[in-house]
Amino acid sequence: MNEIILWISYLLGSVSFIVGLKMLSHPESARRGNLIAAAGMTLAILATLFFYRTPEGRPLHNIPLILAAIALGSALGTWGALRVKMTAMPQMVSLFNGMGGACAALIAVMEYEHYLVQGPLVLSTISAGLIIGGISFSGSVIAFLKLNDNLGDFRFKGQNILNALLLVVLLSLGVALTFQTYYSPVLLFGVAALTLLYGVLFVLPIGGADMPVVISLLNSFTGVAAAFGGFLYQNQVMLTGGILVGSAGTILTVLMCQAMNRSLMNVLIGNFGGGQAGATAGVQGSIREIQASDAAVLLAYSKKVMIVPGYGLAVAQAQHTCHELEKALEDKGVEVKYAIHPVAGRMPGHMNVLLAEADVPYPKLLEMEDANAEMPATDVVIVVGANDVVNPAAKNNPASPIYGMPILEVEEAQNVIVMKRSMGKGYAGIENELFFSPKTRMLFGDAKDSLQKLLNEVKNL
Ligand code: TAP
Repeated sequence: MNEIILWISYLLGSVSFIVGLKMLSHPESARRGNLIAAAGMTLAILATLFFYRTPEGRPLHNIPLILAAIALGSALGTWGALRVKMTAMPQMVSLFNGMGGACAALIAVMEYEHYLVQGPLVLSTISAGLIIGGISFSGSVIAFLKLNDNLGDFRFKGQNILNALLLVVLLSLGVALTFQTYYSPVLLFGVAALTLLYGVLFVLPIGGADMPVVISLLNSFTGVAAAFGGFLYQNQVMLTGGILVGSAGTILTVLMCQAMNRSLMNVLIGNFGGGQAGATAGVQGSIREIQASDAAVLLAYSKKVMIVPGYGLAVAQAQHTCHELEKALEDKGVEVKYAIHPVAGRMPGHMNVLLAEADVPYPKLLEMEDANAEMPATDVVIVVGANDVVNPAAKNNPASPIYGMPILEVEEAQNVIVMKRSMGKGYAGIENELFFSPKTRMLFGDAKDSLQKLLNEVKNL
């Protein structure tokens, strides 16, 4: 009976993960999808606690300890998630992901001795869980520290060769662990230590701009490591969860690389975001400013306006004011749409989440290709805190580190108003010739303040 209840709970848990993941693909259903998957996970945990029986038929004996650990983890997780700023979300994801990797690695460390008699096949899952989970843990901690500005990039000559050698040693020792016939703590903890070291050295040299891609990659590692745990325990829900995280993380990594037109190898060893020489070549001329009152007139007498949100919109938390401006312009008969670049902001879907939070109707959000098709017929583009995703150097300057990245071609529109605080650079650390174009006017200031001024002026017209 216990086994049947457990089996059904795991089945329901697995289905909830799949349904939840599917619902995450749309902002309107994402929140519910998250809750459904969390409910499935809770069911699977409770079922394991109360209905799992050991092969000898005994129930779990350390339930108070497990409940205490769950309570502590839940309290810390809730506290962190409630406090985190939207712009610090990638760091948070990285930290949570690292915890998953640590769990998978700890399972491997604890169970190795118990499963030693079962031979190489079972030990290979333990060895893989240890190495992949451990790399994910220490790599995620470094990614967290880098994104949090606690740690800079660290590179030295021959680093890639050292990393490659370390990986070969690590994998060889992992194989040795698999074929071991007696318990050797030196080998086990040696592999664990090397794994952690490799995770650190793997992420340290990767450029700050590439951290979101690395986090997504490490996320897929954690999924795979958890799936190995599922194999080990023959636990279906752990296996399904791990495979889903592993495959979703891999797909996301590939999509992000495609959106930046770069290979994964280039992300991992490409030293991107360092503001290389040549990046600013060809940028010359002077900029022209515009005041909110003039910008309001230009906008109110336009037929079609396109808003391009970027990282600065998230920093300024200007999404609600932006939506207000959109409504005020529409009241004046202007057609307003949003152009969403796939890597605008600092995490996948960043702009979609922000604009959904402000209740911007979803059909108003155009994907990059559709938005670009409408640019020539657009009277005014308002760039709100975006920079790299509208940088024409991606098309015109082969020396630029973002050369080849698909961009929003805002210079095709009749007029461009750029809202940002200064001539500060974007995440790639490079100059933007768009700001010097005769079509462009700069409206300097915090995005929220500038949008508010613009809104007041439009309303007064
Ligand atoms: P960025 O190129 O990072 O530019 C953001 C601009 O916002 C800055 O130039 C900054 O200029 C301005 N800004 C900052 N705070 C502001 C505020 N309070 N008010 C107004 N403006 C403000 O942003 P983007 O165009 O969204 O591009 C995203 C970048 O991140 C790309 O390089 C992309 O490849 C990278 N990236 C993104 C992802 C994902 S998944 N989204 C993943 C990996 C990498 P000032 O300092 O002058 O104000």
